[in-house]
This record gives sequence, C-alpha cells and structure tokens, in this order.
Amino acid sequence: MNLKDLYIDFFVSKGHKQIPSAPVVPENDPSVLFNTAGMQPLIPYLMGQEHPYGKRLCDYQKCIRTIDLDAVGDTTHHTFFEMLGNWSLGDYFKDESIAWSYEFLTDCLKIPVNRLAFTVFAGNGDIPFDEVSYNKWLSLGIKKERIAKTVDDNFWIAGDIGPCGGDTEIFYWRSEEEVPDKFDPKDERWVEIWNNVFMQYNKDQDGKITELPKKNVDTGMGVERTTAILEGVNDNYLSSIWKDVIDLICEISNLPYEGNELSMRIIADHLRTAVFIAADPAGIKPSNTDQGYILRRLIRRAIRHAKRLNIDINSNWDELIAKKLLNKYKEYYKELEYNYDLVLDVLKNEKIKFNRTLEKGLKVFEKTVKNNANIDADAAFHLYDTYGFPIELTVELATERGLKVDTKGFEQKFKEHQALSRTASAGKFKGGLAGNGEIETKYHTATHLLNAALKLVVGPDVHQKGSNITSERMRFDFSCDHKLTDEEKQKTEQLVNQWITDGLDVTVKQMPKEEAIKSGAECMFIEKYPDIVTVYSIGDISKELLGVFKIKKEEASSAGVRRIKAILK
Ligand code: ALA
Repeated sequence: MNLKDLYIDFFVSKGHKQIPSAPVVPENDPSVLFNTAGMQPLIPYLMGQEHPYGKRLCDYQKCIRTIDLDAVGDTTHHTFFEMLGNWSLGDYFKDESIAWSYEFLTDCLKIPVNRLAFTVFAGNGDIPFDEVSYNKWLSLGIKKERIAKTVDDNFWIAGDIGPCGGDTEIFYWRSEEEVPDKFDPKDERWVEIWNNVFMQYNKDQDGKITELPKKNVDTGMGVERTTAILEGVNDNYLSSIWKDVIDLICEISNLPYEGNELSMRIIADHLRTAVFIAADPAGIKPSNTDQGYILRRLIRRAIRHAKRLNIDINSNWDELIAKKLLNKYKEYYKELEYNYDLVLDVLKNEKIKFNRTLEKGLKVFEKTVKNNANIDADAAFHLYDTYGFPIELTVELATERGLKVDTKGFEQKFKEHQALSRTASAGKFKGGLAGNGEIETKYHTATHLLNAALKLVVGPDVHQKGSNITSERMRFDFSCDHKLTDEEKQKTEQLVNQWITDGLDVTVKQMPKEEAIKSGAECMFIEKYPDIVTVYSIGDISKELLGVFKIKKEEASSAGVRRIKAILK
C-alpha cells in the first residue's frame, strides 16, 4: 500500500472523514494563485463555519508553490506536491494529534523512534511556551535532547493573515551517518516531515491576534519527501513517485540520469505541475497573466530543457511524458481522467506557439551576448515580450555563459507592462454592483439566476469569473470551453425567464444529498463532494418584477472564459 492510502486508512480509523482534494486553483480566494497547503480550502471552516463532513477530516491535497520554481532541479524541490493532512475543527487538540502522529509514524510506517526529533513553540510576548506539546512528547518516551524549543519556525500562518497558531514539527534523520543524540534543528540532515499546527488564533489586517471561536488542529505532511525517506533514497526523483517518469525521459533522450539530473528533474517536475494546472476545473490555459503565465513558464522551461537533452522537441516526447503522469495520477484525481485529452491539447498548442519564436529568440539572445555582455532589463524584456522567453529561461541561458541578467529591472518593466494592460481592461472584472439603484439590484438578482441556469444547461463546471453591472445591461464572465450553441442560449434564457415569471431567486447552500432530496430541492448539482450537493434553492423575489431576460451577445472573453451580455426588458 502506498503512503496516501496508509495515511487515509489510519485517520479514517480514528474517526476522520476523507474529503476530496480541492482544485489547485482556489475557488473563492482571488488573493492566491494556487492552493499552497492542505488547509487553504478549509479556511472558512477553521474560522468557525460548520463543515458538511463534520469535525474530523483528512485528505491528500494538491498544492503548488511557485516560490520554489528556481530551486527545482535539486533533489528535493518540486513546484507541485501532494500534502497529507488531518484536521480537528474544534474537536480533539494537542494530546490526540501528537499521539496519533507518533502512532502513525512508528506503528504504521515503522520509522525507528531513534531517527525522529521534534520542535515545539518556545513562546514569545504574545503566546506562551507550548508546555502541553512538550510534555506530551516526553510522555511518549521521547528524550529531552530530541525536543527543541524554538520560536521562529514554530508559528504557522498561510501568508500574512488568517487562522494561525503555534506548531510542533517532526523531523527525520536523513543521512547515512550515525544519528546524533542531541537534535540540532539547524543541521540540514534533520528534515521536517510533518507539521502539526494548533490553530487557535486569527491574525487580522492590522497584525492583531485574537482567539478563534474553536481550537483547531491542522497538520501537513509532504508525500514526496516522506515517500523518499521510507524508500531510503536521498534524491526524491529516485523514489517510486518519479522513477518511471525519469526512466521514460532517459529512454526518450537516450541519455543516462547521471550527469543529466538537472534537466531531467526540471522536465519531470514542470510537466507534472503543468498537467495538474491544465486539468484543473478552473480551465486555465497558457497566457501572460496569473495562473496562465505560470503554466506557460513551466511548459516553456520544460521544452527548453528537452532541447538541452537533444530531444527532438517537435516529436511527441511531451505527450509521452504527460500520458505517463496522467495515467499515474488519474486514479486519485478524477479530473485527470475527464480532462485527459484537454491536457494533451494544451501542451501541444503551447509547444507549437513557443516553437514559432524559440529559434528566433535564441538567435537574438546570441546576438545580445555576443561580446560577453550582461543582459539588461530592456533586452530581457524584449526576449519576453517578442519571443515569449520567460525570465528564468533567459537567466538560465545567461548563467550557462557566466553572464548576468538584470532581473530586478525586468520585474519592474514586467509590472509596468501588466499595470498598463490592467488599465486598458479596467473595469473588466469590476465585480457585482457598480451602483445600488433598483435596476442594478434587479441585474444582480438576474446574475444569480444566469449563473445557476448556465450550471444547469451547460454543466456544473461553469464557474463565475467576473460580472459587471450598469443600469443599462449586465455582463457575466464564466469558465466554459466552448461557444454556447443556440440551443444552450435559448434554454438558459428560458430557464431564467421561467424563474423570473415564477418570482423566484436562487440561493446557494451545501447540504448532504439525502437532506436535499428530502427537502425536494428543485435543482442541485454534485460538485465538490460525492455525497454533499450544492443546492441552488429557489427563493422569493415576487416583490421586484424583473422584466424579460434577454441574452444580447455571447462571445469569448479570454482563453477558456466566455462572456454573456444580457438585458432586462
Ligand atoms: N498548514 C501547515 C503546513 O502547511 C500544516 O505546514
């Protein structure tokens, strides 16, 4: 059995419910591009909202941390990783959490206690020393020398604000050398494998820390790292998670792993992350902004490293690797199954696009560095803007020749450029109610109805991407991979008008499927959870007569996003 299954079985046996992994692109949190931790999709529940699955949850969550993008290529960094997590939402606290972590590691995974060490929160002005965790580890037979009290690394928060708390971290001795008696958290041979955060506080915009309504537990363990440890390899890419992908890259390039590690790791890592982004229900396509730009950079960097390995980049090398990855993970993540062909298309199209400018761009690059000149911001930006060279590609090319790139200057230009394009499209995503008059309110109601109708007619993968309302009309952007057919448009209009005639509004609530069926909810969509449904219940709007809803235009807004302009007559 693999680590994911062992973990879930263990926590289910301790009364936890398994929840499915949320998409990599957060559904209702525009402040981050990707989920970076298992707790991110659970923030509303850590803040006090009731979770439909109860108080004890566990999962494996797809995470993407692009902050490490440049570090990929060594033995341990990945842009995508899976995080195992278990949560108590105001249920058990430190005692059980620590006891179960210990039991899982030593009993289930059979890790020798002698290879483990721990940190606990030493306390600062605001929050006291975590004596409970310290004593708990002692009571489990851990020697004092193996428990370090630290401050900086033992307080956890995702970003700057939100639920947070002191934590206790578990370390493993990853080295052939003899395990030292005393634990030194600064010695890099001790690697962190699990983090148990005791989330009892909330940090607000002003940096103020207050108690949360409930004391929660949030834990996180990296699948890649722990698997490598269990399999006794010091290079994550040699563990069972990557081995077959690396072998395939060796076969395609006809080169050994040894001596070509950097490019092979980058190709494996970047294509895996690209596969997961492209398969996500958010419908991300390569572009020059946000998630789309990350996707573009990953694919282009992988292509460039394939070129370095002398792989014929016009062959189907990337398709072969992507298929291997899709087949490997689709059992765990069903979107890889139903977006299988879409992912392959995204890779193919981006490769075609990049190939058009890659050769020319490389020539321009050669010309720029002809006299061993470093690359200034203008040249780097020109390579980006005209030839689609992501900055790290230019940096890599330069580094190979011992040259430097003015990345700071580039970032500055990049930001200015983005600000310009934002100004150009200002108002595009100006959300919701621009004004508060009666007519705007009516359009706002119509937006709810349209959103619900599209989900019914086109499918549950339709998600609102933006809306804009004036007193004249409404505009609604939504994720959708095709131009609406006349029939779809007609059905959508009919449905909205039906609800208007019946004097109904639509509100959204999650509830167990059985309850929804009992309450006779008229329309429901199975979304996040197999036995929890999102119910769009029909409420009363009889007091405001909306008029007749009419779709005036349906057009592409950006890749994977359609736009409807509609009026109320
Ligand atoms: N949220 C904690 C982490 O990501 C568990 O380390």
